[in-house]
Amino acid sequence: LHAANPIRDLAGEHLLITAGGTREAIDPVRFLGNRSSGKMGIALAEAALKRGAKVTLITTASRAVSLGCERVLVESAEEMRTAVLDRLPGATALIMAAAVADYRVTNPAAQKIKKSGEKLTLELERTPDILAEAARLRPSGTLILGFAAETERVVEEGRRKLREKGVDAIVANDVSRPDTGIGSDHNAGVMLFADREVRLELSSKWTMAERILDEVHRLRVLRDR
Ligand code: CTP
Ligand code: CA
Repeated sequence: LHAANPIRDLAGEHLLITAGGTREAIDPVRFLGNRSSGKMGIALAEAALKRGAKVTLITTASRAVSLGCERVLVESAEEMRTAVLDRLPGATALIMAAAVADYRVTNPAAQKIKKSGEKLTLELERTPDILAEAARLRPSGTLILGFAAETERVVEEGRRKLREKGVDAIVANDVSRPDTGIGSDHNAGVMLFADREVRLELSSKWTMAERILDEVHRLRVLRDR
């Protein structure tokens, strides 16, 4: 792809892309979070925009994105869920690159928690699975893609998520490697589909984004045939 003359193969698509790690309130000043930087989702958003797609980025990361990309800032899994489900009917594809918390504090404190001499226990409850819910609700023709961050049995776990969440593809990556994944500028993994898989060699998140979008385009062509 040449920057000055990009292939506009995603013209007509409206991509909903999520990025970053959610923050779950403990009290007004503290949260439970994770190490996700949002870089993968932002790279996808920027690349899709260049390829002619309309893009809505739903993110917890306040980093700047290109003009022309609608950005919705959210904090918690619940806020991300609302932002995604509200916009799903107008989208042609959803890519969940966000690291959504699996648990949140059951009763966040209304005031700052003061320390004491005692131990402190936080009770956690599950958050909704946004990707699985979107796949259940999906308007016809909408492509639904997720990521899977794994530290072991990457392909097996990725395949299980593909099946159980009912999505079109899962980008499974090994986040135990020091050179890829969470927080890194690089990534590597495998893109899993019901009937095939595509190896994603170690590359920058920008290159990885282009390869993932090549597959989105391919899925669209297959769907429309
Ligand atoms: N996901 C989501 N909502 C959640 C948790 C995850 O939409 N509450 C999405 C992520 O954005 C990602 C995919 O589901 O696209 C897989 O996330 P991952 O954390 O790898 O899998 P989980 O299903 O949460 O399982 P586990 O963390 O136990 O491996
Ligand atoms: Ca998880």
